[in-house]
Amino acid sequence: MAKILVTGGAGFIGSHTCLVLLDAGHELVVVDNLSNSSLASLNRVASLAGVAPASKAGPTDRLQFVEGEIRDTPCLEAIFQQAEAQGQPIDAVIHFAGLKAVGESVAEPLRYWDVNVHGTLSLLQVMANHGCHTFVFSSSATLYGYPDHVPIPETAAIQPINPYGYTKAAAERLLNDLATSAQELWRIACLRYFNPVGAHPSGQIGEDPLGIPNNLFPFVSQVAVGRRECLQVFGGDWPTPDGTCIRDYIHVMDLAEGHRAALDCLLEEPPQLLSLNLGSGRGISVLEVIQAFAEASERPIPHAIVSRRPGDAAITVADPAEALRRLGWQTQHSLQDICRDGWAWQSANPQGYASEP
Ligand code: UD1
Repeated sequence: MAKILVTGGAGFIGSHTCLVLLDAGHELVVVDNLSNSSLASLNRVASLAGVAPASKAGPTDRLQFVEGEIRDTPCLEAIFQQAEAQGQPIDAVIHFAGLKAVGESVAEPLRYWDVNVHGTLSLLQVMANHGCHTFVFSSSATLYGYPDHVPIPETAAIQPINPYGYTKAAAERLLNDLATSAQELWRIACLRYFNPVGAHPSGQIGEDPLGIPNNLFPFVSQVAVGRRECLQVFGGDWPTPDGTCIRDYIHVMDLAEGHRAALDCLLEEPPQLLSLNLGSGRGISVLEVIQAFAEASERPIPHAIVSRRPGDAAITVADPAEALRRLGWQTQHSLQDICRDGWAWQSANPQGYASEP
């Protein structure tokens, strides 16, 4: 059992990972500014895990919540100090908090660099002050830009093509420098996610983007539930078998298990820095997603092919062999599982967490 600080733990990937970590017996302190997430998600996590609700938790409960900012150093200092005062210092940090919309990062680079890079730096500084050196970082396949070949191994060139990608690359660079500076201390995992989708099979927690979704899956599920009329398919003339882009979609519960496995590995093995792809190795086209979701929801998904979206690559698929070798981890869920669970969430919560009474 470890005591883990989870930044951004109320968000989509964070909430599912919190559930997996609670089920594995860990104790969590979540810090989240709720800018793109809801405390309802953590209360549902608590109920699924059978622990006290995060919003009412006291210092001895297994899921505690602090509304705060990763750039707010006094807030982070207070979290570490309180845990030390209780005789249970923070053993590790899993860092999800950050901004992730590509278009927004082009319009607001200062904000993206501030939150994603400066935020990570201040968090690491507080960890170092308190002798905490175990860190799992939310990285992204966006690092690879337009990949030279697929499937993409971790040794592929890091060549981001937008400010969001540069902030992830900069944070990974920082982590590499830190690990090199004190190899006997730091235990770091940079987890490069491919396309996280789906939901917990209970339908209690899932993805709840603010406003109009940028990403394919939430858009498709909002069309299925009647919140949006028609999906635009960005390009039907890509060099792929059906002309639509191919991605490596990974069930969010597989991704959550990947974090648990990475943390176990860091805590058990000697200090090291791991950079790992978390993907399935399976390529799925946009039209295949639409068809599978229509089958799972038993509803048509009206869609129209429009022009390509600037910045898209034709095919992005992980080579996940290294994660299997280092963590013994691989994805377990099919596209059908992803659509079934995604639909369970969307149909039970048509307005996301705002459906909460
Ligand atoms: C996007 C980001 C990536 C980020 C990831 C986070 C871009 C270019 N890339 O990945 O940096 O890490 O989200 O999850 O924004 N599509 C449609 N119609 C839609 C939405 C998407 O046809 O309304 C297509 C896209 O063209 C793409 C596929 O669906 O081919 C997947 O798109 P999306 O879910 O946005 O993910 P990525 O672009 O792979």
